[in-house]
Amino acid sequence: MIINTELEQKGNLFPGKIVSFSQHVDTLNFTTENGVILQVTILRGSVIRFRYATDNNFEKDFSYAISETGARGYSMLKVDETDTEYTITTSKISICIAKANIHVTIRDTTGNIICQDDWGFHWEQSYEYGGNIVKMSKSAPQGECYYGLGDKPMHLNLKGKRVENWATDQYAFGKDQDPLYKSVPFYIGMYEERAYGIFFDNTFKTFFDFCHERRNVTSFWAQGGEMNYYFFYGPNMQDVVTRYTDLTGKPELPPLWALGYHQCKWSYYPEKKVKEVTHKFRELRIPCDAIYLDIDYMDGFRCFTWNKEYFPDPKRMVTELAEDGFKTVVIIDPGIKIDDEYSVYQEAMENDYFCKRADGPYMRGKVWPGECFFPDFTNPKVREWWAGLFKEIIDEIGVKGVWNDMNEPAVMEVPGKTFPDDVRHSYDGNYCSHRKAHNIYGTQMARATYEGVKRFAYPKRPFIITRSAYSGAQRYTSSWTGDNVATWEHLWIANIQAQRMSMSGMSFTGSDIGGFAEHPTGELYARWIQLGVFHPFCRTHSSGDHGNQEPWTFGEEVVDVTRKYVELRYQLLPYLYTMFWEYAEAGIPMLKSLVLYDQEDLQTHYRTDEFIFGNQILVCPIQEPNAKGRRMYIPKGYWYNYWTRAYVKGGKEQWVDADLDIIPLFIKEGAIIPKYPIQQYVGEKRIEELKLEAYYKLGNKEVSKVYEDAQDGYDYVKGRYSLRSFSFTGKENEVIIQQHKDGSYITEYETMQIELIGLPFKINEIEIDNVVVSFESVGFDAKNNILTVPKSFTELHIIAK
Ligand code: GLC
Repeated sequence: MIINTELEQKGNLFPGKIVSFSQHVDTLNFTTENGVILQVTILRGSVIRFRYATDNNFEKDFSYAISETGARGYSMLKVDETDTEYTITTSKISICIAKANIHVTIRDTTGNIICQDDWGFHWEQSYEYGGNIVKMSKSAPQGECYYGLGDKPMHLNLKGKRVENWATDQYAFGKDQDPLYKSVPFYIGMYEERAYGIFFDNTFKTFFDFCHERRNVTSFWAQGGEMNYYFFYGPNMQDVVTRYTDLTGKPELPPLWALGYHQCKWSYYPEKKVKEVTHKFRELRIPCDAIYLDIDYMDGFRCFTWNKEYFPDPKRMVTELAEDGFKTVVIIDPGIKIDDEYSVYQEAMENDYFCKRADGPYMRGKVWPGECFFPDFTNPKVREWWAGLFKEIIDEIGVKGVWNDMNEPAVMEVPGKTFPDDVRHSYDGNYCSHRKAHNIYGTQMARATYEGVKRFAYPKRPFIITRSAYSGAQRYTSSWTGDNVATWEHLWIANIQAQRMSMSGMSFTGSDIGGFAEHPTGELYARWIQLGVFHPFCRTHSSGDHGNQEPWTFGEEVVDVTRKYVELRYQLLPYLYTMFWEYAEAGIPMLKSLVLYDQEDLQTHYRTDEFIFGNQILVCPIQEPNAKGRRMYIPKGYWYNYWTRAYVKGGKEQWVDADLDIIPLFIKEGAIIPKYPIQQYVGEKRIEELKLEAYYKLGNKEVSKVYEDAQDGYDYVKGRYSLRSFSFTGKENEVIIQQHKDGSYITEYETMQIELIGLPFKINEIEIDNVVVSFESVGFDAKNNILTVPKSFTELHIIAK
């Protein structure tokens, strides 16, 4: 109580005693004597929403982040009352609410405390103390770890850190710099290997403090809006992420080409230069699927126009690039040049689509084109209009993807680098100031872009990439990590950001390979491409200020390294696409930090460098110059070194050799890794055969999946996909591979080539579906243990005898 009095003197207000309780189906309201209402909604047995109102009043309920398609429903809901507390019980957790102060304690079914209020909800509302601030503080037992929060460029485990969410254009940001471009107010807490998550769905500037201010307290607060958070129970960390992703939405499958390699620079122009670059890729046989046009393709940086001097006939150029397998992606920024002669400007003016200041005038700011106005993307009419603007670029010219940048929104030469707080927004009819709309602006721009590109690309799939994002943006767009720098430290940052974005529900992310600002050495570029091919989004980009960053600018050795790794990415496309399908289908993060992969192993809680690509490939970048290898932690279990095929036992740190052309890669035993032939771009070749690399494991079955479909379009939604499940069972003298197939898509290939790796015996007999077959009929290569079988087999026995 003393604490409360002191804090109260500092302007904090605290809820009093509960005076009434009511329940309406899944929603429970607890009202206190001083007009606080805690509303608890049971979305699922393990997903609970907590909402607090002061002055007996909730504002209209509205969120851009929550997806309408998420799973809802629970099997059990019971409320008990004693003299001192209410207890809400679901099938997964119990939530105690203290009558004295509405403090919340969440326990698992065996009574372990998962998450407990410290001071709980409190708030400030006096103008002297800064107005409306809503706060929450939770007890943080010693040993609790914290993860998540989007693009923070700091240690994966956020324990001891205090971070802020306010989308910011942070050119050449540094390690630990905060905030950056994205605002993802979601974190995962884990204590004694039990994980839970908290998503504070508040678009105002938010703060999270993980035992930084007070040792045993974690708190979060916002400079406005409601204390409104969702709690996700694990206890498995991956389940926390999938539940969060289910709530805030999953992406559709991208076109497969979007998982290829992309090449970008600020800027490739004129047309001749673009063609030189694309030709060089083909000449050097470095696979590439996408080429980007940065701002200089436009006429005076006016969005939706072309500089006809540099690009006299965009449609012809885009068509020619397409004939060579290149998809053209163009940048579109939010700033619309103030120019009476410019149709986009005129239309927006006629319809009053631009953001305004509090006292009436338009929000004016300088960006690339000079003085601009900015569409209010939080207005549904503006989004609809914006979507329509893509007709020419997509439908007529044939551009395949759109890149949204500067959408924090960035404004040049002003303090704060963005709109002033007083700018007004529609917020879909919930009129508000920029304080509330700032963090969501970029997502609403990407959403409008997605709707437009999707409309005009149909029946093909759209591809969008954004720099700024708020929770839920993954439904519409991929993202990149912004203006990084060509330094070794930034390679470390890129690795962390990609992992963190994955565990924050936004797997489809990558960094500017090689670094955006400054210029990498060939060695740094080589190490970066080795990591970049294992990020869901894979693009080289640079500011172009300090020299070129195409692979060939670094000489032959780097070209060879680049080719080797980009080729590997293209071979692994069916594996990568299956990872994406698991993400799109179930919200499973594509990259799994070691803690997410094996939270029971304490060694993983503070590791940052190693991660699992999908489910079965362990990757660990080389992050220093002149390295011949490195020490790394190999998670528990048995693994195969991908390069040497050596069989290694995990659960300890060990040295791994890695000359310039090697990045440490390990395959989980029992895995069956699918590969396509190398192609220069997606769809270049008919896939004649699926290759399966099967890594021997003794004992328990290991299941591997391969998802395939038409690689673009929406037929998969109607069941036209092919999902193969392979299970590997290894005995001392026999291997059994079983296959189960779902979906009605017929893959082009008729056969599968299987390579058995690490087999402890010599093969003497092969049976397909219980029939012994001759070695010739399966083209058996005894030296390498390779055989070719019909794709439709259901059970394969490989026997020593
Ligand atoms: C911003 C972007 C960068 C882009 C540049 C020019 O700095 O982050 O990727 O190349 O603007 O459009």
